[in-house]
Amino acid sequence: MAAAAPLLPLLARGQNPEHGVVEARLTAAPAKVQLAPPDYPATAVWAYNGTAPGPVLRVRQGDRLRVAVRNGLAEPTTVHWHGVRVPNAMDGVPFITQPPIEPGAEFVYEFEARDAGTFWYHPHQRTFEQSGRGLHGALVVEEREPIRVDRDLVWVLGDWRLDKGAAIAGGFGSFFDVSHAGRLGNLVTINGLDLDQFVVRSGERIRLRLINAANARVFALEFRGHRPRVIALDGQPVEPHEPQDGRVVLGPAMRADLVIDMTEKPRSAFDIVDTFYPRMRYRLVALSYSDQPPLPSRADAPIALPANPLAEPDLGRAEHHDIVFRGGMMGDMRGIPRPMAWTMNGKAASCGTGQPFDPLLFLKRGQSYVLRLVNETQWPHPIHLHGHVFRVLTRNGQPTAHREWLDTVLLQRRESAEIAFVADNPGDWMFHCHVLEHQDGGMMACVRVL
Ligand code: C2O
Ligand code: CU
Repeated sequence: MAAAAPLLPLLARGQNPEHGVVEARLTAAPAKVQLAPPDYPATAVWAYNGTAPGPVLRVRQGDRLRVAVRNGLAEPTTVHWHGVRVPNAMDGVPFITQPPIEPGAEFVYEFEARDAGTFWYHPHQRTFEQSGRGLHGALVVEEREPIRVDRDLVWVLGDWRLDKGAAIAGGFGSFFDVSHAGRLGNLVTINGLDLDQFVVRSGERIRLRLINAANARVFALEFRGHRPRVIALDGQPVEPHEPQDGRVVLGPAMRADLVIDMTEKPRSAFDIVDTFYPRMRYRLVALSYSDQPPLPSRADAPIALPANPLAEPDLGRAEHHDIVFRGGMMGDMRGIPRPMAWTMNGKAASCGTGQPFDPLLFLKRGQSYVLRLVNETQWPHPIHLHGHVFRVLTRNGQPTAHREWLDTVLLQRRESAEIAFVADNPGDWMFHCHVLEHQDGGMMACVRVL
């Protein structure tokens, strides 16, 4: 029976004399890991510090995180801190916020963890291949006073396309993947493991931090026999609620923090099933109860998280803009020059080339904005904005139930959504689809906050 290995912080707080500074070191380099079941060979991956996903970085809200990144790959890279409201120069976008880190070189990222929550990190250089080969990891910023649970767990969900010998299949960035659903894999892992059972104890309360680190796969997780409550989305607290239809839906790059009470009996077992693609349902893992006697229930303890220091958009004075997404197979690709397949307001852009990049929108610092995102394609797109988080006000014109704060909003095919935020972080910020092949195929723009 497999169990997730505990993931440790790299350096404990206090090992550095400066109060509240957490230092870490990440080296991106080739490595071998056992992704597939033990009867398969190990898989050659690209990894941070030799593991895929990389180490869980854990800090407390208000700490400064200083991460020295060394590039041990044969190509340039960067690290982007997904969902973290960093200063622009620390955002890890090649040519736009920094020169790429060349092979053998190092770059030190440093920023304050202003928001508590579940975040993650990954390259922003040829992300579809670098993240797809294993370069991604979790960043957890703990609340100053966390809610009480028996275990606080991170599950990085990975999706790998392997060949019969468990090697990573080639074809990264193929036009088929770019113009369809992206690079879907054939092996889903939890923290890099092909887990069959996850052992729990009757009565315990688990905070489960789910991170979708897949290039393209959307997850819709159903927890048989259990009633998880969502307490945060994309790291940002949300009024605790049971997910709609009992399914936790996560597009690429999205996160959900769940509180799950293990209310069943010792020695019982319950499946967690992914039902997003109706013809490709599968069992992700089983929650398997140990025979230990039940822990005392925490059912009455509070689970709501304290709010993060986010500026509330002033909807009465907000400026409105429409962003229209087009292209892709079974959509309109006329006038989009290959290898591009997608556009935002008629433009297809790609970063990582060093080509000049005209901002799609110029935003005034301190001003509130409402963007209406219109997906005119036949495919779902998780749309991510850097440097900011936004409230989701409406979907297809209907108010959302929780007005959740997100950094990545999943637009279903032909769906529209209105998002609102204050442009309070100066700089050029990427705004793109997080299906990494769509991003590479033109579904990317940048907004300038001045
Ligand atoms: Cu998670 Cu622009 O990225
Ligand atoms: Cu997309």
